[in-house]
Amino acid sequence: MIILGIETSCDDTAVSVINTTKRGTRSLSHIHYSQIKTHKKYGGVVPEVAAREHTVTIIPTLTAALDKARITEKNIDCIAVTQGPGLSPALSVGIDTARILSQRHTIPLAGINHIEGHIASVWPIQEIPHAHTRVPQLPALALVVSGGHTELILVKKFGSYMLLGKTRDDAAGEAFDKVAALLELPYPGGPKISMYARRGDDNAFDFPRPMIRNESLDFSFAGLKTAVRYALEKHQRQSKQLKQNIAASFEQAVVEVLIEKTLRAEQRYHPKSILLVGGVSANRLLRSTLRSRCKKNHLPLYLAPPKLTQDNATMICMAAAYGNKKGALSAWKRMHAEPGWHITS
Ligand code: KG4
Ligand code: ZN
Repeated sequence: MIILGIETSCDDTAVSVINTTKRGTRSLSHIHYSQIKTHKKYGGVVPEVAAREHTVTIIPTLTAALDKARITEKNIDCIAVTQGPGLSPALSVGIDTARILSQRHTIPLAGINHIEGHIASVWPIQEIPHAHTRVPQLPALALVVSGGHTELILVKKFGSYMLLGKTRDDAAGEAFDKVAALLELPYPGGPKISMYARRGDDNAFDFPRPMIRNESLDFSFAGLKTAVRYALEKHQRQSKQLKQNIAASFEQAVVEVLIEKTLRAEQRYHPKSILLVGGVSANRLLRSTLRSRCKKNHLPLYLAPPKLTQDNATMICMAAAYGNKKGALSAWKRMHAEPGWHITS
């Protein structure tokens, strides 16, 4: 079965093609156009600007994905498109493109939850470097960390989830982006903070670890951002070394909180595997610390393959393939954006 995936929920225009057969699931194309250059000017994503740029890039991205996969629109058996959550005007560009294709060639349409897409990124797929070759043992505990989400989710089976904890204010990626802005580093802040942190002293600042001792599995990162602002304000001359020390101490605090909460959830729910997915899962410190903690506790860990950490359409195809979305197909007339769609609703 040939599945075309479309993802436009935020600032990435992405189209992918996968082929699922009895022999496995294979990536045929993975095209991704990032709008970072545009949003850098504003220091964050502006929804209307994102939508306008998606309308310009979606057709060339689609054409490139079909060409790379050596197929035409007529060869597509199913279209998987991100239906939510995300920015409403941005989601609509991908959905409208999917609707037109569906109507024109009578292709079944599957609306995919973006978070479910991130979770699917650790399922097996051939031709994606460092992808897993085995399906994670279930139930699994997923830490979903991105610019818009920080959630601990118990994956009982594909399509059946229990939300264990979520952020009460900023998402982890959002905290990275906001702290980067305070340090006058460009958007998106995650990769830049991480680079700075490598040359900084993570003990230089004793930033709070919000809610780390709290029994709840929820997160809160807004206070940490404020603590960084106060630390900066105390210094009139903000040298590069100071910024590197702040970046290292901040990153350490975020990683500690994410990992402590994940291990607490593990002790409470005894999952058979741990999954780390979403844009922030690209963070080296988070990956290496979680890897060593899971190894110590003999917990099988599935890290998102680097190519699938940030928003992409291959994970949307995979959610359709592994989630067996045949029962969830929509008619093109009824498909619309669900900006606030929660995975467990
Ligand atoms: O999943 P994603 O591409 O988009 C959303 O669904 O939000 O995640 C983007 C987020 C941004 O906030 C970005 O700063 C963060 O992921 N990010 C990182 C790193 N790479 C990207 N955060 C920390 N460390 C990184 N290396
Ligand atoms: Zn995402």
